Amino acid sequence: MAVESNQNIITINYPPDKTIMEFGPLGISLSVPQGSATLIKVNVNDKEYIKLVPDQEVECFSVLLSVGINRINITAIKEDKEVDKIAVNVFRRSDLSSEFIKPPVGYNINYFHEKDSWQCTGCHILKPGDSDRRSVNIAAFPSEILSAGAKAAARTSTCYSCHKALTSYPFVHGPAAVWSCLSCHEPGAKPEYAVKKPDTKICFSCHIKQKEDWYGKKYFHGPFTTEKCAICHNPHASENPFNLHKPTWDLCLSCHIDKGSGIHIVRNYLGISSKNHPTRGKPDPLRKGKELSCASCHDPHASDSAKFWRLNVGSGFELCTKCHTD
Ligand code: HEC
Ligand code: HEC
Ligand code: HEC
Ligand code: HEC
Ligand code: HEC
Ligand code: HEC
Ligand code: HEC
Ligand code: HEC
Repeated sequence: MAVESNQNIITINYPPDKTIMEFGPLGISLSVPQGSATLIKVNVNDKEYIKLVPDQEVECFSVLLSVGINRINITAIKEDKEVDKIAVNVFRRSDLSSEFIKPPVGYNINYFHEKDSWQCTGCHILKPGDSDRRSVNIAAFPSEILSAGAKAAARTSTCYSCHKALTSYPFVHGPAAVWSCLSCHEPGAKPEYAVKKPDTKICFSCHIKQKEDWYGKKYFHGPFTTEKCAICHNPHASENPFNLHKPTWDLCLSCHIDKGSGIHIVRNYLGISSKNHPTRGKPDPLRKGKELSCASCHDPHASDSAKFWRLNVGSGFELCTKCHTD
């Protein structure tokens, strides 16, 4: 299909080209004058992503970004002819791959809430409400969610209408599940809704038990000492248990590439340096229903052992006996 004529039909209200994002979901808003197009096609990195029939002046949707550069191509079609084509590039950074920690030159964070959003207020409420700061009782959480209902919380949240894609994952973090966005995001902060830094300030305001437990240990894991919990955990939701950016095994391998074989486990205890020990794909004998992983033996946060063994063991040999009782 050839572009018939470039009529500047599509205007992208958000995001600007070369925007940096941290996590998966990205909200997109377009203006498409009524009657100017019969179909809008959205491709991300050359794969067809969404097709929509424009029926109002403003069209809104979300895409889930991959790590790295996402080339988003938007095409307006009228009566089977391409009438406009526009592209926007968005970079999703990641602390877990050296390649994508730093954005390419020319990319910037574009704070949506710092700018005038009169174009949105006709259909969306931008002023936060009381329910966006709903109190979260960590001790009673599952019952709280059952009684009050995450769906009901979503309905009363002013953030939900634009940010609903944020929780569209199998594992949703407690406060995000009940749309208590303002338990971490501060209205009036600079920039608007910025989260207090470092992460531990907000994480440990609720996870008091973990704070006491971990700070009482002798050794802290490298990434834990950065106080950026979001290196490993998505504060909103993810595909993986504990809202991790990757499944545990892959997460650890992002930084400790050579440990997957498990040779490191047995080399000093069996007197042989070439034997593998499973590190996944077997049931964890100590954690019912869970697969063996690096976290079966290591605590990713803190420990009294320099090798971050969990299970309160004083030596590697004692660790072996926890699972190998014979
Ligand atoms: C003409 C009305 C209208 C205007 C103006 C409007 N929106 Fe929307 N928007 C909607 C509707 C309707 C939805 C769907 C809401 C729902 O399902 O709860 C929506 C949903 C969204 C979503 C979520 C999309 C998804 O599926 O995940 C985002 C993001 C969004 N809007 C951003 C914006 C932004 C940014 C602006 C201003 C530049 C804006 N909207 C202006 C009507 C509008
Ligand atoms: C009119 C739609 C809309 C509403 C309502 C809305 N947001 Fe946003 N927000 C966006 C868009 C668009 C972005 C940028 C793209 C993205 O993050 O998907 C954004 C980005 C953000 C960011 C990242 C920083 C920034 O400014 O870009 C935070 C934090 C945020 N929103 C929090 C909230 C909270 C909390 C609420 C509810 C009190 C809320 N938003 C309500 C549309 C909206
Ligand atoms: C447990 C704390 C916490 C809660 C609850 C939370 N956020 Fe966040 N959010 C963060 C952190 C941490 C970041 C990373 C950005 C930063 O560090 O400034 C972030 C970033 C964002 C961003 C930017 C996304 C990107 O890819 O750059 C948006 C949008 C956002 N939050 C919206 C929301 C909305 C809407 C809610 C309510 C469902 C919410 N957040 C609840 C902690 C939280
Ligand atoms: C407003 C209170 C609150 C804040 C702030 C908060 N959390 Fe949570 N968190 C919860 C609740 C509630 C749960 C669900 C109950 C549970 O499983 O312990 C939870 C669960 C979790 C879980 C999953 C626990 C499990 O056993 O499945 C992780 C991981 C987690 N939070 C990490 C974080 C991180 C990282 C931060 C900071 C970015 C943070 N939390 C900030 C309330 C909070
Ligand atoms: C190196 C990556 C990494 C960092 C950094 C990290 N975590 Fe975790 N976290 C994990 C993994 C992996 C698990 C799941 C362990 C398992 O399978 O038992 C976990 C589990 C958790 C849990 C639930 C289980 C528990 O032990 O209570 C909470 C809560 C939690 N993390 C909070 C935090 C907070 C708060 C921070 C920042 C102080 C943080 N994490 C930093 C990787 C990390
Ligand atoms: C973001 C990078 C990163 C991730 C992800 C990560 N680590 Fe680490 N880890 C480090 C750094 C940095 C150190 C400290 C430097 C060193 O001793 O190698 C460290 C140290 C360790 C040590 C002690 C090393 C020693 O020589 O005593 C163990 C054990 C360990 N990590 C296990 C894990 C496990 C298990 C996971 C997954 C749950 C994990 N790490 C995820 C960066 C990471
Ligand atoms: C069955 C228990 C077990 C599992 C599973 C396990 N480790 Fe280990 N790990 C150990 C022991 C024991 C040591 C100490 C080895 C030594 O003292 O020679 C260790 C040491 C380490 C060290 C310190 C460096 C070294 O070679 O001594 C790192 C880093 C590490 N493990 C990462 C991982 C990662 C990443 C995974 C998942 C792929 C993993 N471990 C899985 C038991 C385990
Ligand atoms: C968290 C539990 C756990 C710990 C701790 C543990 N193992 Fe294992 N180990 C396993 C599992 C699970 C298997 C696989 C059993 C199977 O195949 O059914 C295994 C298998 C083995 C095997 C047989 C490997 C093969 O190729 O067949 C040896 C040898 C072994 N472990 C030695 C050790 C030593 C030495 C230690 C201490 C440094 C240790 N294990 C610590 C869970 C553990």
